[in-house]
Amino acid sequence: MFFTQLLTVLYVFTAVRASALLGNSTAVVPSPNLVPIAPMGNVASVQITTGDTRIFYQDSTGAILIRGVTAPFLSGGTVRAIQSLVPASQVLPYTPIAAITTNTATYTAMRVYFFSRENVLSEYIWTGPTTGWTGGPSCTKCLTTQGIVVQNGSEVLYAMANTAFNQFRVGFISAGQPATISEVENLGSGWGVAAYA
Ligand SMILES: *[C@@H]1O[C@H](CO)[C@@H](O)[C@H](O)[C@H]1NC(C)=O
Ligand SMILES: *[C@@H]1O[C@H](CO)[C@@H](O)[C@H](O)[C@H]1NC(C)=O
Repeated sequence: MFFTQLLTVLYVFTAVRASALLGNSTAVVPSPNLVPIAPMGNVASVQITTGDTRIFYQDSTGAILIRGVTAPFLSGGTVRAIQSLVPASQVLPYTPIAAITTNTATYTAMRVYFFSRENVLSEYIWTGPTTGWTGGPSCTKCLTTQGIVVQNGSEVLYAMANTAFNQFRVGFISAGQPATISEVENLGSGWGVAAYA
């Protein structure tokens, strides 16, 4: 069932935005500036108040990559450099991906969620340009260390932050409670988990 997704190519248009009239597919024409992106499965994204955007996706190697664009495609965004975020060894093939950021004018924080090959709910954290990204086995602050196991085969994953940002929730199907969704919540002081009830 995933082979069609493997063949999916998500095009990032950088030059044809002005002519991309809704409802007229002939107006969307590949341009010399087109940047091909080939996700193998799920894609998540965040933007800050300027429209500066980060797109997270798993490519055919199994790694999770970051693509940036300075603004919405239709508003003249230009492509930022590609960056590899999570090594394939830490990522379940066809994992769902969720991401949150702060509602600010510059990127001060981001959090990205996905499943490991052992079905562990996993997190990478970005805390600013100085510290960059942290995640993987060495990240003691990451949700990953909680060892929360999701139901095998589940594709449910969502994340949301409130205005305090250090307070956020991640929803998933727990292996221990597969009949409903569960949420892990961080109120800034630690993690708690509860099923929908
Ligand atoms: C759709 O695109 C074609 C080809 O560019 C153009 O001739 C036509 O006027 C467009 N139609 C609308 C409704 O924009
Ligand atoms: C999940 O289920 C698949 C198919 O039954 C199995 O091959 C795989 O080992 C399971 N993964 C885990 C982590 O249990």
